[in-house]
Amino acid sequence: QSRRLTAVDIANRKGGEPIVSLTAYHAHTARLVDRHADFMLVGDSLGMVMHGLESTVPVTVEMMILHGQSVVRGSERALVVVDLPFGSYEESPEQAFRTAARVMKETGCGAIKLEGGRHIAPTVRYLTERGVPVLSHIGLTPQSVNTMGGFKVQGRDEAKWPELEADAAAVAEAGSFGVVLEGLVEPLAARITRQVAIPTIGIGASSACDGQILVLEDMLGLSPRVPKFVKTYGRLADAIDSAVGDYAQEVRARTFPAPEYVYGMPKKVASGE
Ligand code: KIV
Ligand code: NA
Repeated sequence: QSRRLTAVDIANRKGGEPIVSLTAYHAHTARLVDRHADFMLVGDSLGMVMHGLESTVPVTVEMMILHGQSVVRGSERALVVVDLPFGSYEESPEQAFRTAARVMKETGCGAIKLEGGRHIAPTVRYLTERGVPVLSHIGLTPQSVNTMGGFKVQGRDEAKWPELEADAAAVAEAGSFGVVLEGLVEPLAARITRQVAIPTIGIGASSACDGQILVLEDMLGLSPRVPKFVKTYGRLADAIDSAVGDYAQEVRARTFPAPEYVYGMPKKVASGE
Protein backbone atom coordinates (compact mmCIF):
# COMPACT_ATOMS: atom_id res chain seq x y z
CA GLN A 1 0.00 0.00 0.00
CA SER A 2 0.99 3.56 -0.71
CA ARG A 3 2.34 5.69 2.12
CA ARG A 4 0.69 8.69 0.61
CA LEU A 5 -1.71 10.86 2.55
CA THR A 6 -5.25 10.75 1.18
CA ALA A 7 -8.04 13.28 0.87
CA VAL A 8 -9.67 11.56 3.86
CA ASP A 9 -6.52 12.11 5.95
CA ILE A 10 -6.68 15.81 5.09
CA ALA A 11 -10.42 16.04 5.91
CA ASN A 12 -9.73 14.46 9.32
CA ARG A 13 -7.31 17.26 10.19
CA LYS A 14 -10.16 19.78 10.73
CA GLY A 15 -9.40 21.87 13.81
CA GLY A 16 -6.13 20.00 14.46
CA GLU A 17 -2.52 20.74 13.64
CA PRO A 18 -2.50 23.24 10.73
CA ILE A 19 -2.34 21.66 7.26
CA VAL A 20 0.77 22.59 5.26
CA SER A 21 0.48 22.98 1.51
CA LEU A 22 2.38 24.50 -1.41
CA THR A 23 2.07 24.35 -5.16
CA ALA A 24 4.41 22.13 -7.19
CA TYR A 25 4.56 22.08 -10.97
CA HIS A 26 7.24 19.51 -11.68
CA ALA A 27 9.20 16.58 -10.23
CA HIS A 28 12.18 18.67 -9.17
CA THR A 29 10.25 20.93 -6.79
CA ALA A 30 7.77 18.17 -5.87
CA ARG A 31 10.67 16.14 -4.41
CA LEU A 32 11.56 19.03 -2.09
CA VAL A 33 8.01 20.01 -1.14
CA ASP A 34 7.13 16.34 -0.45
CA ARG A 35 9.48 16.38 2.56
CA HIS A 36 7.41 19.03 4.34
CA ALA A 37 3.88 19.40 2.96
CA ASP A 38 0.70 17.43 3.70
CA PHE A 39 -0.56 18.02 0.19
CA MET A 40 0.76 19.72 -2.89
CA LEU A 41 -1.30 21.44 -5.50
CA VAL A 42 -0.56 21.32 -9.19
CA GLY A 43 -2.26 24.71 -9.52
CA ASP A 44 -3.40 26.22 -12.78
CA SER A 45 -1.34 29.21 -11.60
CA LEU A 46 1.37 27.31 -13.51
CA GLY A 47 0.01 29.04 -16.63
CA MET A 48 1.11 32.39 -15.24
CA VAL A 49 4.14 31.28 -13.22
CA MET A 50 5.72 28.79 -15.66
CA HIS A 51 4.25 29.67 -19.03
CA GLY A 52 4.05 33.47 -18.93
CA LEU A 53 0.28 33.68 -19.44
CA GLU A 54 -1.66 36.77 -18.27
CA SER A 55 -4.25 34.75 -16.34
CA THR A 56 -5.21 31.12 -15.70
CA VAL A 57 -8.01 31.26 -18.28
CA PRO A 58 -5.97 29.86 -21.24
CA VAL A 59 -4.60 26.86 -19.27
CA THR A 60 -5.55 23.50 -20.85
CA VAL A 61 -6.26 20.03 -19.46
CA GLU A 62 -3.20 18.77 -21.38
CA MET A 63 -0.95 21.26 -19.54
CA MET A 64 -2.39 20.18 -16.19
CA ILE A 65 -1.86 16.50 -17.03
CA LEU A 66 1.75 16.97 -18.13
CA HIS A 67 2.65 18.86 -14.95
CA GLY A 68 0.53 16.53 -12.79
CA GLN A 69 2.41 13.47 -14.08
CA SER A 70 5.72 15.10 -13.27
CA VAL A 71 4.66 16.01 -9.71
CA VAL A 72 3.29 12.53 -8.97
CA ARG A 73 6.55 10.95 -10.20
CA GLY A 74 8.60 13.32 -8.05
CA SER A 75 6.74 12.67 -4.79
CA GLU A 76 5.76 9.75 -2.61
CA ARG A 77 4.24 10.96 0.66
CA ALA A 78 2.10 14.06 0.17
CA LEU A 79 -1.35 13.99 -1.42
CA VAL A 80 -1.22 15.45 -4.94
CA VAL A 81 -4.19 17.63 -5.94
CA VAL A 82 -4.54 18.80 -9.57
CA ASP A 83 -6.57 21.87 -10.59
CA LEU A 84 -9.23 21.44 -13.26
CA PRO A 85 -8.65 24.36 -15.65
CA PHE A 86 -11.17 26.93 -16.89
CA GLY A 87 -13.68 25.46 -19.34
CA SER A 88 -13.08 21.82 -18.42
CA TYR A 89 -15.82 21.36 -15.78
CA GLU A 90 -18.33 24.25 -15.61
CA GLU A 91 -20.77 23.03 -18.28
CA SER A 92 -22.20 20.08 -16.39
CA PRO A 93 -21.42 17.50 -13.71
CA GLU A 94 -20.88 15.00 -16.55
CA GLN A 95 -18.28 17.19 -18.23
CA ALA A 96 -16.55 17.66 -14.86
CA PHE A 97 -16.52 13.92 -14.21
CA ARG A 98 -15.04 13.15 -17.64
CA THR A 99 -12.26 15.70 -17.08
CA ALA A 100 -11.60 14.62 -13.49
CA ALA A 101 -11.47 10.92 -14.41
CA ARG A 102 -9.04 11.63 -17.23
CA VAL A 103 -6.80 13.72 -14.96
CA MET A 104 -6.82 11.05 -12.24
CA LYS A 105 -6.13 8.17 -14.67
CA GLU A 106 -3.37 9.94 -16.59
CA THR A 107 -1.55 11.52 -13.63
CA GLY A 108 -2.23 9.21 -10.68
CA CYS A 109 -3.16 12.22 -8.51
CA GLY A 110 -5.32 11.64 -5.43
CA ALA A 111 -7.77 14.53 -5.80
CA ILE A 112 -8.79 17.45 -8.00
CA LYS A 113 -9.63 21.08 -7.22
CA LEU A 114 -12.21 23.27 -8.88
CA GLU A 115 -13.36 26.83 -8.35
CA GLY A 116 -16.81 27.95 -7.26
CA GLY A 117 -19.37 27.93 -4.46
CA ARG A 118 -23.15 27.43 -4.53
CA HIS A 119 -23.40 27.19 -8.34
CA ILE A 120 -20.82 24.36 -8.57
CA ALA A 121 -21.96 22.43 -5.46
CA PRO A 122 -24.13 19.96 -7.47
CA THR A 123 -21.00 19.12 -9.49
CA VAL A 124 -18.98 18.60 -6.31
CA ARG A 125 -21.62 16.16 -5.08
CA TYR A 126 -21.73 14.34 -8.45
CA LEU A 127 -17.94 13.89 -8.40
CA THR A 128 -17.55 12.84 -4.76
CA GLU A 129 -20.38 10.29 -5.09
CA ARG A 130 -18.44 8.77 -8.01
CA GLY A 131 -15.02 8.46 -6.37
CA VAL A 132 -13.42 11.81 -7.13
CA PRO A 133 -12.16 13.65 -4.02
CA VAL A 134 -12.78 17.38 -4.49
CA LEU A 135 -10.98 20.33 -2.96
CA SER A 136 -13.14 23.43 -3.42
CA HIS A 137 -11.91 27.00 -3.90
CA ILE A 138 -13.98 30.09 -3.08
CA GLY A 139 -13.49 33.81 -2.45
CA LEU A 140 -11.07 35.23 -4.98
CA THR A 141 -11.35 32.70 -7.81
CA PRO A 142 -8.76 33.56 -10.49
CA GLN A 143 -10.56 31.72 -13.31
CA SER A 144 -13.34 34.34 -12.93
CA VAL A 145 -10.94 37.30 -13.24
CA ASN A 146 -12.82 38.57 -16.29
CA THR A 147 -16.18 38.75 -14.51
CA MET A 148 -14.72 39.91 -11.16
CA GLY A 149 -12.91 42.81 -12.91
CA GLY A 150 -9.47 41.92 -11.54
CA PHE A 151 -7.87 40.03 -8.66
CA LYS A 152 -9.77 41.59 -5.73
CA VAL A 153 -9.89 40.86 -2.01
CA GLN A 154 -13.33 39.49 -1.10
CA GLY A 155 -15.49 40.37 1.92
CA ARG A 156 -14.42 43.99 2.45
CA ASP A 157 -18.14 44.80 2.10
CA GLU A 158 -19.82 43.05 5.04
CA ALA A 159 -23.09 42.89 3.08
CA LYS A 160 -21.43 40.24 0.86
CA TRP A 161 -20.52 37.94 3.78
CA PRO A 162 -23.73 35.87 3.68
CA GLU A 163 -23.05 34.95 0.02
CA LEU A 164 -19.51 33.81 0.75
CA GLU A 165 -20.64 31.91 3.86
CA ALA A 166 -23.33 30.22 1.74
CA ASP A 167 -20.68 29.26 -0.84
CA ALA A 168 -18.54 27.62 1.86
CA ALA A 169 -21.53 25.82 3.39
CA ALA A 170 -22.70 24.56 -0.03
CA VAL A 171 -19.38 23.03 -1.09
CA ALA A 172 -18.83 21.51 2.38
CA GLU A 173 -22.33 20.03 2.36
CA ALA A 174 -21.73 18.68 -1.18
CA GLY A 175 -18.81 16.57 0.03
CA SER A 176 -15.60 18.56 -0.58
CA PHE A 177 -12.76 17.27 1.60
CA GLY A 178 -11.53 20.83 2.10
CA VAL A 179 -12.00 24.34 0.80
CA VAL A 180 -9.41 26.88 -0.26
CA LEU A 181 -10.28 30.39 0.91
CA GLU A 182 -8.45 32.88 -1.28
CA GLY A 183 -8.19 36.62 -0.72
CA LEU A 184 -10.68 36.93 2.14
CA VAL A 185 -10.67 39.48 4.95
CA GLU A 186 -9.63 37.86 8.23
CA PRO A 187 -12.93 38.07 10.16
CA LEU A 188 -14.82 36.37 7.34
CA ALA A 189 -12.19 33.62 6.96
CA ALA A 190 -12.43 33.01 10.72
CA ARG A 191 -16.25 32.85 10.60
CA ILE A 192 -16.26 30.40 7.69
CA THR A 193 -13.61 28.23 9.37
CA ARG A 194 -15.85 28.01 12.46
CA GLN A 195 -18.98 27.32 10.41
CA VAL A 196 -17.86 24.47 8.11
CA ALA A 197 -16.97 20.92 9.16
CA ILE A 198 -14.17 20.61 6.57
CA PRO A 199 -10.68 22.14 6.73
CA THR A 200 -10.26 25.62 5.28
CA ILE A 201 -6.96 26.20 3.49
CA GLY A 202 -6.08 29.88 3.40
CA ILE A 203 -4.18 31.89 0.82
CA GLY A 204 -4.41 35.56 1.69
CA ALA A 205 -7.04 34.60 4.26
CA SER A 206 -5.23 34.88 7.63
CA SER A 207 -3.98 32.32 10.15
CA ALA A 208 -7.57 31.62 11.27
CA CYS A 209 -7.78 28.91 8.60
CA ASP A 210 -7.14 25.19 9.25
CA GLY A 211 -4.17 25.24 6.87
CA GLN A 212 -2.19 27.43 4.51
CA ILE A 213 -1.11 27.28 0.88
CA LEU A 214 1.21 29.51 -1.14
CA VAL A 215 2.57 29.41 -4.66
CA LEU A 216 6.06 27.92 -4.20
CA GLU A 217 7.79 30.28 -6.66
CA ASP A 218 6.25 33.27 -4.85
CA MET A 219 7.48 32.27 -1.39
CA LEU A 220 10.92 31.33 -2.79
CA GLY A 221 11.46 34.82 -4.19
CA LEU A 222 11.36 33.69 -7.84
CA SER A 223 8.29 35.65 -8.91
CA PRO A 224 8.84 39.22 -10.15
CA ARG A 225 5.73 40.58 -8.38
CA VAL A 226 3.83 39.04 -5.49
CA PRO A 227 0.60 39.98 -3.66
CA LYS A 228 0.66 41.45 -0.14
CA PHE A 229 -0.18 38.13 1.51
CA VAL A 230 3.01 36.40 0.28
CA LYS A 231 5.86 36.15 2.75
CA THR A 232 9.14 35.64 0.92
CA TYR A 233 11.01 32.78 2.62
CA GLY A 234 13.78 32.51 0.03
CA ARG A 235 15.79 34.65 -2.37
CA LEU A 236 16.08 32.24 -5.29
CA ALA A 237 15.99 34.90 -8.02
CA ASP A 238 19.07 36.52 -6.44
CA ALA A 239 20.81 33.14 -6.08
CA ILE A 240 20.14 32.24 -9.72
CA ASP A 241 21.16 35.66 -11.00
CA SER A 242 24.45 35.44 -9.16
CA ALA A 243 25.20 31.83 -10.24
CA VAL A 244 24.34 32.48 -13.90
CA GLY A 245 26.34 35.72 -13.83
CA ASP A 246 29.42 33.92 -12.42
CA TYR A 247 29.12 31.22 -15.08
CA ALA A 248 28.83 33.76 -17.90
CA GLN A 249 31.86 35.64 -16.65
CA GLU A 250 33.98 32.46 -16.34
CA VAL A 251 32.98 31.21 -19.80
CA ARG A 252 33.99 34.55 -21.32
CA ALA A 253 37.30 34.45 -19.41
CA ARG A 254 37.87 30.75 -20.38
CA THR A 255 38.37 29.94 -16.67
CA PHE A 256 35.46 27.51 -16.89
CA PRO A 257 35.87 24.61 -17.48
CA ALA A 258 39.07 24.37 -15.43
CA PRO A 259 41.15 21.13 -15.74
CA GLU A 260 39.18 19.29 -13.01
CA TYR A 261 36.04 19.46 -15.18
CA VAL A 262 37.77 18.22 -18.36
CA TYR A 263 37.99 14.68 -19.80
CA GLY A 264 41.52 13.70 -20.84
CA MET A 265 42.63 10.60 -22.75
CA PRO A 266 43.25 7.38 -20.77
CA LYS A 267 46.79 7.25 -19.36
CA LYS A 268 49.07 5.13 -21.56
CA VAL A 269 50.29 2.05 -19.68
CA ALA A 270 54.09 1.77 -19.93
CA SER A 271 54.99 -1.43 -21.76
CA GLY A 272 57.99 -3.04 -23.38
CA GLU A 273 56.84 -2.27 -26.93
O1 KIV B 1 -3.48 27.64 -8.91
C1 KIV B 1 -3.11 27.80 -7.74
O2 KIV B 1 -1.90 27.91 -7.46
C2 KIV B 1 -4.14 27.87 -6.70
C3 KIV B 1 -3.84 28.24 -5.32
C4 KIV B 1 -4.84 27.97 -4.30
C5 KIV B 1 -2.61 28.79 -4.89
O3 KIV B 1 -5.27 27.60 -7.00
NA1 NA C 1 -5.73 27.48 -9.20
